[in-house]
Amino acid sequence: MTPLSLSDTDPAELAVDAIVVGLHSTGPADSAKGDGGTGPLLAPGAESVAVAFDGKLAETLTLLGATGAPGEVTKLATLGTVSAPVIAAVGLGPANGDVASDVLRKAAAAAVRSLAGASKVALALPTPDGPEGATAVRAIGEGALLGAYRFAGYKTKPQPGRRDPVKGVALHVADAADKAARAEVKRAGVVVAAVARTRDWVNTAPNELRPPSFATQVSAAAEQAGLEVELLDEKALRKGGYGGILAVGLGSEAPPRLVMIRYAPKGATSKIALIGKGITFDTGGYAVKPPQGMWEMKSDMSGAAAVASTMIAIAALKPKVAVTAYLPMAENMISGTAYRPGDVVTMYGGKRVEVLNTDAEGRMILADAIVRAGEDEPDYLFETSTLTGGQVIALGKRIAGVMGDPALCDRVKRAGERVGEPAWPMPLPDEVRKGMDSDVADISQVNAGMDRAGHMLQGGTFLREFIREGLPWAHIDIAGPAYHSGEPTGYWSTGGTGVPLRTLLELIDDIAENG
Ligand code: BES
Ligand code: MN
Ligand code: ZN
Repeated sequence: MTPLSLSDTDPAELAVDAIVVGLHSTGPADSAKGDGGTGPLLAPGAESVAVAFDGKLAETLTLLGATGAPGEVTKLATLGTVSAPVIAAVGLGPANGDVASDVLRKAAAAAVRSLAGASKVALALPTPDGPEGATAVRAIGEGALLGAYRFAGYKTKPQPGRRDPVKGVALHVADAADKAARAEVKRAGVVVAAVARTRDWVNTAPNELRPPSFATQVSAAAEQAGLEVELLDEKALRKGGYGGILAVGLGSEAPPRLVMIRYAPKGATSKIALIGKGITFDTGGYAVKPPQGMWEMKSDMSGAAAVASTMIAIAALKPKVAVTAYLPMAENMISGTAYRPGDVVTMYGGKRVEVLNTDAEGRMILADAIVRAGEDEPDYLFETSTLTGGQVIALGKRIAGVMGDPALCDRVKRAGERVGEPAWPMPLPDEVRKGMDSDVADISQVNAGMDRAGHMLQGGTFLREFIREGLPWAHIDIAGPAYHSGEPTGYWSTGGTGVPLRTLLELIDDIAENG
């Protein structure tokens, strides 16, 4: 991973390949008020660089078309005015008070990505004095490292013109020895390594990552981080009665798995259960998906990848709270042994489910994991999954849907807001549950009349059925936000995003501090 450091050397004198400065936009010219529209303004941090330019830097950037709009990057050659040969001015939007964390995070990422090919870059972005300074360092540090992420890929030949991500990043701060700032730099390294690990798993081709190899990789990484791992193979799953995981796994010659990872520090006051959907590929089974876009179902293990990586991160961050991860893994395929519509499956814990749509496989494997987690009597349960296309229809590609205990959903929403992973609470109305009454079993897996209305809510409603009585829980549907299909933007690279890993870490910190 790209190393991140702090520097309090004057940015104008730093021997790096490029200096990144911030640029604020000013409002449009308003002739009625006699405001001529002054053009963009340099943000704090850029002072010494501006002096080296004889006060003409903002003017020069304006000539080059810079406006200070968020994410905009304008580069110019410095021709000896400062030590670095290039300045990259990144837009921060309007200047009003401290710059929002997410604006800094996105700006740092956009700037670092635009400087691919450079060896070492320095970021002289605004970091206020006091406790807000640490928050800014966290955002800038995370953003810069996220912007330097790239999936290695499978190309057999080097790509002409393809520039490698930046190799080293220095953050300019007033005092490089500041303890809080140093702690944030260390944290950003751990967090982004975990995001990168999640993205790598998601981006891995599905023929290279099937349940047994995914389980082996997750277990090895967790063990290496010093965590306790329990891996159930298909034999152990059969012995334990994990009917949901086994049913989905039946269609593939690569058998299903359940990986459990435990982090239990001394003095922990509460216990959290984390569950992530690990469908390594989702064809839909006999309810086969249309070919268009089916390949994206290689990302159907995003929840498990994010939760596994969260565990590896907390092994280093050491929060004072116990956390156990439950990661069910299966491949949803079609074959002579695959499960079929009409099947009745006895789930872990004994409930019977009528299968009506083999493409609703996520809830089958998750229900088993949720019941298993309940046996360990956690204080909170968070489950995350690429569960429904309905989430994407309702909330789009950026905002996750959150269902469950209303207070906990609100906590997820606020945590997501702080880290730039937006999430929105959704209801679980009674009529949705009624629609899932089965003629023959305890519950249908989807609406019995196959009504697609409220698909996201059907998923949440089904999972609620398996939550231990009284346990506060939240289900985070990340079908949209887990995967970014377009060009890289902000801190999103193309492919896996790592969502909701940073939200989970934020929630763990929140619970460790506030119960
Ligand atoms: N993995 C899919 C959901 C999904 C869709 C994730 C689009 C990411 C992008 C899930 O297993 C699925 O197929 N869900 C069905 C549920 C339905 C059959 C009740 C869906 O959303 O159509
Ligand atoms: Mn499916
Ligand atoms: Zn799926």
